[in-house]
Amino acid sequence: DSDLPLDMIIFGGVGDLAMRKLLPALYMAYLHGNLPSATRILSTGRQDYDRQAYLDHVETNSRGFIAEANFNAKTWDGFLQLLEYVKLDVQAAPAFDALAQASRDGAQRVFYLSTAPSLFTTICEKLAAAGLVDARARVVLEKPLGQDLASAVEINEAVGAHFAESQIYRIDHYLGKETVQNLMVLRFGNSILEPLWRAPNISSVQITVAEEVGVGSRAGFYDGTGAMRDMVQNHLLQLLCIVAMEPPTSLAPDAVRDEKLKVLHSLRRMGLADIARDTVRGQYKHGASGNQEVPGYLEEKNVPAGSKTETFVALRAYVDTWRWSKVPFYLRTGKRMTRQSSKIVIEFANPPFPLFPGSQEGVANRLVIELQPEEAIKLQIMAKQPGSGMEMQQVALNLDLQSAFQQRRAEAYERLLIDVVRGRLTHFMRRDELEAAWAWADPIIEGWKTLDEKPHGYAAGSWGPAESFALLARDGFSWVE
Ligand code: BG6
Repeated sequence: DSDLPLDMIIFGGVGDLAMRKLLPALYMAYLHGNLPSATRILSTGRQDYDRQAYLDHVETNSRGFIAEANFNAKTWDGFLQLLEYVKLDVQAAPAFDALAQASRDGAQRVFYLSTAPSLFTTICEKLAAAGLVDARARVVLEKPLGQDLASAVEINEAVGAHFAESQIYRIDHYLGKETVQNLMVLRFGNSILEPLWRAPNISSVQITVAEEVGVGSRAGFYDGTGAMRDMVQNHLLQLLCIVAMEPPTSLAPDAVRDEKLKVLHSLRRMGLADIARDTVRGQYKHGASGNQEVPGYLEEKNVPAGSKTETFVALRAYVDTWRWSKVPFYLRTGKRMTRQSSKIVIEFANPPFPLFPGSQEGVANRLVIELQPEEAIKLQIMAKQPGSGMEMQQVALNLDLQSAFQQRRAEAYERLLIDVVRGRLTHFMRRDELEAAWAWADPIIEGWKTLDEKPHGYAAGSWGPAESFALLARDGFSWVE
């Protein structure tokens, strides 16, 4: 199939995601010869552009997102040759005639839906009516995939009316990150970790995705969304799944996704009392990011006065399985935190008996998997302090993945787009996974509405509200920064 001409059709082709991520990723794929030779990229949008005006837009808004080291003027020109612009107002257009004309018969069509999800239904219907959806066609769905379970089901139904599940690629770009994929290899490509990877050897798991940036210019979208829907329901739960899943029997898409689904089904549902006790919502206040003063969330452009939207969530979750019985999973994410830092911390039980003098405080062994900005695996162990005594001290075995491998590390979107082109579904969410994730998140979001509390304030540039630290301290743990 990979020799077929490819028509990559982007809905939302003028939008922010196309400029920042999709086109740079496609450029990189082109640069490295990972696109079929007869590839064309058909960008659609409402703007009244001709082809040249669109290329100018790309030049101004997208080119800057390609790292200097990867930029090559000749390749860039070659890449621009692949681009076409099809003016298309999805809602107003009675039919997609112009698009049907632009797309070649017999081409492998990939439809990338990077619009508001409220347009997905219309897009799929009109694509089908125009005869563009054949058995080879693939559709990529960008998040947010709904606001809750009901709207996710609706989207899935609408898309599913025209595409088989095996043609649907639901993107969670965290699954395209090199280190996230590496987590699977760490767990299932090694034999030394697996026997320990369970209760009671593991006493807790922490998953943090901290961002330094604030809401930026996205308040229009973000204020109706919040951190739970924007980050926890998708990215953090996907990380949790990979940490908690049973070994799959193969890397076939469904073998992997079946195991992840089991984890999502095992996540303990929270009632109101659990929500009040085990979740923390926060919202950033005025503070400092780096050396710069930055406004609080309520002072950001387009945030409605008195908004109670959370920009931070910390919570304690349980995976009710034999393997994870009583092991707390602490999840945390926020904007305007001290620095960008995504990591998974596996905390192991302490030795049952204190034999050696020295620092007995804290934890003897931790496996820390740093996802970004640095990619590293660190194992914290106890070692003897040099000297005549037998004092212990914590030291770390460090594996810096950037220096361990010389190869270029592709960005998440580049890797995932190549997967779509090659028909590899493993790193995309299946329908039932998406719905199971919402089924867990919905009652929490509903519970917050019922409780109707204001989110806890935290200073921009901090690690979040005090209540988030208290959540772990109560169980005798603490966040690893
Ligand atoms: C997106 C969220 O899915 O992920 C954004 O909508 C967030 O709010 C982004 O900033 C974080 O992704 P990354 O790759 O920068 O960690």
